[in-house]
Amino acid sequence: MKHIYRSNSCCGIHTTNQTILYRTLIGAPLELLYFGSRITDERTISALEGAASAPEAYPAFGGVYRRSPAFRVSKGSEQQHTSARLLFTGSEAADEQTLVLSLFDSYLQLEVSLIIEADYEYDMIGMYTRVTNCSDTSCIIDYMAAAFLPLSWKEGVLTNCTGSWAHEMHMNEQRLNPGIHITGERCGVRTTRFANPSIILSHGEHAVGEQTGICIGAAYAWSGNWAFLLDHDPDGTISLIAGDHPDTARRILTAGASYQMPHLYLTYSESGRGTVSRRFHRWAKQRMIPDAANPRSIVLNSWEAAYFDFDETLLLQMIDGAARIGIETFVLDDGWFGSDYPRDDDTQGLGDWQVQPAKLPRGLTPLIDRCRERGMTFGLWIEPEMVNPRSRLFEQHPEWILSAEHREASLERGQYVLDLSREEVLIWVIGTIEQILDQNPGIDYIKWDCNRDIKELSGGFAVYDRYVENYYRILEHLGERYPALVIQDCASGGGRVEYGALHRTHEFWASDNTDALQRIFIQWGTGMFYPPSVTAAHVGSETNHITGRHLPLAFRCSVAMSCRFGVELSPLALSGEDREFLCEAVSTYKGIRHLIVSGELYRLVSPYEQHHAAIMYVLPDRSEALLFVWELRFSVGSAYEQIRLAGLQEDRMYEVRELLAEHLEQHMMNPVRSGSEAMRLLTGEYLQRCGLAIAFRHEYDSRIFHFVMK
Ligand code: GLA
Repeated sequence: MKHIYRSNSCCGIHTTNQTILYRTLIGAPLELLYFGSRITDERTISALEGAASAPEAYPAFGGVYRRSPAFRVSKGSEQQHTSARLLFTGSEAADEQTLVLSLFDSYLQLEVSLIIEADYEYDMIGMYTRVTNCSDTSCIIDYMAAAFLPLSWKEGVLTNCTGSWAHEMHMNEQRLNPGIHITGERCGVRTTRFANPSIILSHGEHAVGEQTGICIGAAYAWSGNWAFLLDHDPDGTISLIAGDHPDTARRILTAGASYQMPHLYLTYSESGRGTVSRRFHRWAKQRMIPDAANPRSIVLNSWEAAYFDFDETLLLQMIDGAARIGIETFVLDDGWFGSDYPRDDDTQGLGDWQVQPAKLPRGLTPLIDRCRERGMTFGLWIEPEMVNPRSRLFEQHPEWILSAEHREASLERGQYVLDLSREEVLIWVIGTIEQILDQNPGIDYIKWDCNRDIKELSGGFAVYDRYVENYYRILEHLGERYPALVIQDCASGGGRVEYGALHRTHEFWASDNTDALQRIFIQWGTGMFYPPSVTAAHVGSETNHITGRHLPLAFRCSVAMSCRFGVELSPLALSGEDREFLCEAVSTYKGIRHLIVSGELYRLVSPYEQHHAAIMYVLPDRSEALLFVWELRFSVGSAYEQIRLAGLQEDRMYEVRELLAEHLEQHMMNPVRSGSEAMRLLTGEYLQRCGLAIAFRHEYDSRIFHFVMK
């Protein structure tokens, strides 16, 4: 077994740069001996095996363990048994990269398996757990961690991303004082509305830097409720506990039944959070997100361009306008459906997925055909998990919504959540989507939206599980039946950005906020764990619809071009000059897109720390790179900045070219004279040690540089 290590008293698994080791003594609690950089010498492992004490690796409530446990169970009519003792019974290498460690409570007859999967090449460790009730009576699993990692760290800092609608993924840092810290969601469907299920845990008193410091990056892959608990024991252990939200974690486990938790993916870095991001991106593009090693198309979405107010003529004009700019996919957003209850605002029509004759008397076909004629693909917005009370669907099936018995169901954005945990609702959703796709051949893309939370339900928390399982079944079914269909994951913007959904969709809408200035922060946080090449970022109109801020087109374009580029404004509303610039931006993006898709992200200057921000992408072989710089707040005293690059090969020359430049010679102020040929050819060493000098001309100035190794 190549990556698995097993001896009489120890078991572990390696990836290229990491090792995790457990002490595995039959009949004793499992202990975590080590999680850190790769151990290559077996003598080191022997020394670890001999350690006098090590933290328990999956402690249960009710024994000697006094901190937040990994597992809590209750059994008996009056819960007379709340104490569990999970002892190691054996290990198994399920395959070359998967280790299964089994624990058993012999009194309660409960088996818990810890499954550890190593992705050797991509340096990622996946962990999850499974519990089986081997007794002949049921019990209640009050809490069960998908992963439990007791780190012998005396100090730690938690970095995570939180926010709200149109303000997603803002980074927070908090030093972990002794005690219990929790971050989580229990909205049921919009799983990442307030916080994202991904964290960076830094070792020490300060958060790690981009290139230095010890940390662990972890992301939970589940589109339901979740929480990370960090329990800092003042004696010197910080336990990372990942799984369900404690408020909704309770599950009944009948005799003979099993339950399996979702995956936590983690990676250990001794070179800061930049390494964490790059590993997650690489792994996600190869292993998690369908077809993500290939580029996504450039989208024009109709939402901010027309909202609910359009007809066939307008859409055809927009398609023509989009084609002239060089757009590759036209997406028709909300408002195209609802015949008896026309979807002209958000109060009605949701659930009635027939084309609205008043707006589109000839259906979708003329739009699809026009896209085809113009060499574009066609996409459509749907929100299949929801229903407005004013809809034919609700009239026919009022019993299909999620509600709490004896209580009135609450509305949010004028809609209810359909109870996707029910088989008949699942079948209806699949049938409805199939009907839309089969009756309108030529839909290549769907934007799957989800605009409210689950606020109430009946039937226990297992409803949440079945809901998510059925959501996955639908996505997987669509993937099999329509293999070329691209699915954008959206939930009021970035409300469902996690690896459960992303494993079954192709890209995501990061936020309804298209204000490029705020997007820099949103994309900064999003890029910690999720690849920019699948992060949809669209150029909004000059006066932003949400913030009212005016931003130059060049700035709006460059912020969107640093991710999966698209447009969210009407091509008909552009001045001639702006249309020309947008055309150039689109064609420039086509020339550099391979760097966003295959390049590795280096965050150079943080918008949280400076008046400007900078990131770059470098191809893995370092032959090409791309630099984005944005001026956020202009002041004369800081009009010049040396931006030191990263990821380049120091002993090679790079040709530097500014893209979408207005006046090339003004932009770079390196020692060689501005505008001279020499300044366009610099060593990697120079660029990384001295940096590229940038002159900012005004607030919201932006720069894109392309580097090609010579
Ligand atoms: C959500 C999405 C938007 C748009 C609207 C349509 O808010 O995030 O992009 O699709 O719904 O109602």
